[in-house]
Amino acid sequence: MDKRPAVLFVCLGNICRSPLAEAAFRKAAEDAGLDAECDSAGTAAYHIGAAPDHRSIAVARQHAIDIGHYQGRQICADDFTRFTHIFALDQNNLEDIRNAAPPHSSAQIQLLMDVVPGREGESVTDPYYGDETGFDETWRDVSCAAAALVNQLRR
Ligand code: 4NP
Repeated sequence: MDKRPAVLFVCLGNICRSPLAEAAFRKAAEDAGLDAECDSAGTAAYHIGAAPDHRSIAVARQHAIDIGHYQGRQICADDFTRFTHIFALDQNNLEDIRNAAPPHSSAQIQLLMDVVPGREGESVTDPYYGDETGFDETWRDVSCAAAALVNQLRR
């Protein structure tokens, strides 16, 4: 690859799923020695400047990762050229991201679970209105996708 991969994970609020996707990818890339930039964002503006949901912070901590300093932000026009890949956590986010893409967008935009063989087309369920078990499921999904993505980007 002639350009260092730069990966953006996008959900709705940027406080539950995409911070966990960012954390799982950062760890998987570091463990694999993959040099990649990464960040996360939300399609909505609800939680700009906010820390991740306490349940996301807790599940990351269970996996020895600190995300307490992450800050919510909304996806912006520059992201479509700054990042080589933009991954939507669910189908609604994917549609919103595609609608927000400027004409000069160069990023490859796709659904995150599409990188996992056998799970193409699946959304990562929004755990916000549920209990802690939903966040464990989110972690399983995003870490599975992070491992597959690191393998794909190393090739
Ligand atoms: P996320 O979860 O998109 O995974 O960060 C949500 C966070 C906040 C809201 C909805 C989903 N909300 O409606 O405030």
